[in-house]
Amino acid sequence: MKNIYSNIFPFNKKTLLKSVAYLKKGNVVGLPTETVYGLAGNAYSKKSVNKIYKLKKRPKFNPLIVHYFNHKDAKNDVIFNENFFKLYKKFCPGPITFVLKKKKKSKIKSSVTANLNTLAIRFPSHRIVRSVLKKINFPLAMPSANLFTNISPVNARDVADEFRKNIKVIINGGDSKIGIESTVIDLTRNPKILRPGIIGPEIINRFLKVSIRKKNSKLKSPGMLKKHYSPGIPIFLNQKTFIKKHAFITFGNKYKNNKNCFNLSKKSDLKEAASNLYKTFRKIKKQGFKKIYVMKIPNQGPGIAINDRLKRAAN
Ligand code: TXA
Ligand code: MG
Repeated sequence: MKNIYSNIFPFNKKTLLKSVAYLKKGNVVGLPTETVYGLAGNAYSKKSVNKIYKLKKRPKFNPLIVHYFNHKDAKNDVIFNENFFKLYKKFCPGPITFVLKKKKKSKIKSSVTANLNTLAIRFPSHRIVRSVLKKINFPLAMPSANLFTNISPVNARDVADEFRKNIKVIINGGDSKIGIESTVIDLTRNPKILRPGIIGPEIINRFLKVSIRKKNSKLKSPGMLKKHYSPGIPIFLNQKTFIKKHAFITFGNKYKNNKNCFNLSKKSDLKEAASNLYKTFRKIKKQGFKKIYVMKIPNQGPGIAINDRLKRAAN
């Protein structure tokens, strides 16, 4: 049998150069980041950006995040402000994305931003994506490496399972440590969290006053589409009882571990729970369960991001 994972490569000097060569030619590459795996392409190349949208089957109105090695590399593309530097100093490189005004002379392709006059930028901390960024002279447009509305991949095999042979190079960087997507914060006005992540409002509030996007406010971040991050089977939230034939996602030590129980964190650690969420969805789906029950997860710290993803998955 032909190995269906033959497009996954270990990270070394040779595969680093191979990835760089691919990106320079306008092709896309699957890369690990500390949050989730991304589908990377040259943000200055129309060809690359088109490939990303096409492969993901992503609607063109949903803009992409652009990734840089450091803030200096982004200076021709966005207008920085004081709030940006406050958070950059504290959290970058790391799992946070800033929405800023795009510069008129920026070379970022308009399809990247879905024609908005703002641009979402991020500085990932993962050593593999950073070594790629160091070797190229363009930034990487890089959405999560999953088909539109599916859950994000947290290891190289997840990426291969999404795209099969449609992508030629995926670099294996092991499991993504954080396991859910970056916090997206709009800094073009009074700071507002558009997508919660592991860096939550309590932490950001220590440095600047931030609000969270309200449920019904005008669609500002299309990733905030109600149905998203879906494992493709019905999910029922805040459940107390468990039914043996369905998968039950638990947290803490309240429920004994049964064959159908999937514990996000036995020690009730919300950070650990976040890192296990997508992995657990995929495991459950692979085992053929038809429904997922989920117990109530505390809505604080990383729990805010977990509940955000759960709600969207359940929609
Ligand atoms: O952790 C992450 O951010 C991962 C890794 C690969 O870096 N990337 C990621 O990208 O999650 P994606 O494309 O799956 O999600 C990007 C989110 C979407 O919700 C999108 O609507 C929002 O960022 N976004 C992008 N540009 C925006 C803009 N100019 N204004 C508001 N939201 C924007
Ligand atoms: Mg995504």
